[in-house]
Amino acid sequence: MSLTKLTSTYHRDTYPAISSTNPSLSQAGKTVLITGGGSGIGFEIVRSFAKAKASRIIIMGRRITVLEDAVVKWREEFQDTEFIAQQGDLNDEASATAVWDYLNSHQIFVHVLVLNAAHLFPRGPDTLQMERKAVMKAFEINVGGNFTMTAKFVNQPLRPAGEKLNLVNISTVGLHMNPAPNQNPYVTSKAAFTALLGRIADEHPVEDVQIISFHPGVLYSEGVAEYFDKDPYDWDEMALPADFAVWTASPEAAWLHGRFVWAHWDVDELKADKEITKRLQQETGFLKVGVQGLTEVSGTSFLKK
Ligand SMILES: NC(=O)c1ccc[n+]([C@@H]2O[C@H](COP(=O)([O-])OP(=O)(O)OC[C@H]3O[C@@H](n4cnc5c(N)ncnc54)[C@H](OP(=O)(O)O)[C@@H]3O)[C@@H](O)[C@H]2O)c1
Repeated sequence: MSLTKLTSTYHRDTYPAISSTNPSLSQAGKTVLITGGGSGIGFEIVRSFAKAKASRIIIMGRRITVLEDAVVKWREEFQDTEFIAQQGDLNDEASATAVWDYLNSHQIFVHVLVLNAAHLFPRGPDTLQMERKAVMKAFEINVGGNFTMTAKFVNQPLRPAGEKLNLVNISTVGLHMNPAPNQNPYVTSKAAFTALLGRIADEHPVEDVQIISFHPGVLYSEGVAEYFDKDPYDWDEMALPADFAVWTASPEAAWLHGRFVWAHWDVDELKADKEITKRLQQETGFLKVGVQGLTEVSGTSFLKK
């Protein structure tokens, strides 16, 4: 079974089952926070949540002018959604915390968190020639920053008792874009956070917080344009991961709680596949980050008989 083709239908663009205009995926009444929502894939995720009628969308990033320009554009296009630009740096715990302090003090409760921002550095031909500080920065942002956002989201003081939350993590597991410059710290820090979220999902049932990670595909974003030429690759349409993010934040995707999937996979086929359903029920490590070729072993198997 090939990772990138778990279903025989392989999408490169959006399709009816995940379309953000699909009433079953409606985000009406929801407040959505999207990190890195001012550019790249995040910008398109904003469009999809607005099309899904989210009541309020907050975008977070370091460059306030990028965020403000995006908000001006979206306000013109979607008059029924409120847009807020919030400057915040995932590399700085105080900065990320300040975003949540602002929201809490303004009585803004977030129902959906999309962890989309990422640090794509350092790059170079030899990992062991990289500076430790630069390597650790990838982990600080892609693991530490996302951890702070997740903890603040789940523990919001304004959260009503019993209110279900939705967390969507845009991941990067399982794709090596050779001959791209080596991005090992980026890729492994993203994998580490995806692994951590899989464990967090074991602690928090789907009725508490629905957590799903997905690979968005190959998208020609602002960040990617810095180190890839556009012409040699057949890029996916932005609407695919953008609408997929809305689908993963809906009750329709609840059965994938804690798992990692690809936006390319057909969600109807995935759901109808009895073998996949069986493996999801029986294997806690299925579609989670782990060792390829091995299923997880429980510590109880080492108990003395
Ligand atoms: N593009 C692809 O083909 C591809 C493939 C696999 C996975 N992904 C994943 O998809 C997501 C989006 O990727 P992309 O290609 O759209 O990337 P991108 O064009 O580089 O955009 C990244 C966004 O994150 C924000 N950001 C970066 N560092 C931040 C920080 N420290 N604090 C807060 N915000 C920060 C940036 O805004 P500021 O600079 O203003 O902060 C920007 O809006 C990432 O998680 C990436 O790993 C992308």
